[in-house]
Amino acid sequence: MRIGVLGTGNMADALATHWVRAGHEVFVGGRDARRAERLAARLGGGTRHGNLDEAAGFGAVVLAALPYGAGAEVVAGVRASLAGRVLLDCSNPVGPGFRLLTDGGPSAARRLADAAPGARVVKAFNLCHEDVWRMTPPVFDGRPLAVPVCGDDGEALALVEELVRDTGCTPLAGGGLDRAGLVEATAALLIGLWVGEGADAQAIAPPLAFATGPAEGLPPHP
Ligand SMILES: NC(=O)c1ccc[n+]([C@@H]2O[C@H](COP(=O)([O-])OP(=O)(O)OC[C@H]3O[C@@H](n4cnc5c(N)ncnc54)[C@H](OP(=O)(O)O)[C@@H]3O)[C@@H](O)[C@H]2O)c1
Repeated sequence: MRIGVLGTGNMADALATHWVRAGHEVFVGGRDARRAERLAARLGGGTRHGNLDEAAGFGAVVLAALPYGAGAEVVAGVRASLAGRVLLDCSNPVGPGFRLLTDGGPSAARRLADAAPGARVVKAFNLCHEDVWRMTPPVFDGRPLAVPVCGDDGEALALVEELVRDTGCTPLAGGGLDRAGLVEATAALLIGLWVGEGADAQAIAPPLAFATGPAEGLPPHP
């Protein structure tokens, strides 16, 4: 698959490393040509580099690895090149105090969709730290990390699910793009618990067997 990457920072590096290793053709685009060149060299595997518009026009899938505050403006600037392509949003609109910056308004993913109406936006990869995405593979207690994927276009979801599997993770159907805001809010909650409280956020959810009540054979909830 051809993959364009908007941005040359940590998430661009972490995710594209998996995709180059999986044999995809990657093009890194940045506003700083030298950073794009350096990242492409580090990724290897024939990775190309150039500006943001060139990256947007390269990929069947285009990863927006940009800060929430810059994402919509950058995407609007390359929207013509993004037409018909899958735009993968991994951003976290989380500010000081672990505040959800989109509170009361459209999600970050929806803002990208509005900025590039011809693109098919999918939300994924926002819930974990870059170093988790750098793991080969991200497996905990023998279980691959599950990655919720939200989007409205079946073909776009299938492409992103393939890219999730290429990182060693398991894709999880997260619903339509209207659910992306929930995944973004989940990130704000998790980051607050992990970083703010030093809490084991993984402990907040019971096993699946308990999702709708006590598992068989256990006393009913009082
Ligand atoms: N890092 C994590 O652990 C993590 C985990 C999950 C999700 N995320 C999300 O992933 C996204 C990227 O995070 P990151 O850690 O990769 O950030 P980063 O390392 O700071 O990289 C951000 C990239 O965006 C570029 N950029 C910033 N403002 C821009 C603008 N106005 N125009 C064009 N390019 C611009 C930067 O270019 P310059 O280098 O030229 O400044 C850089 O290449 C964020 O939305 C973040 O919330 C991050």
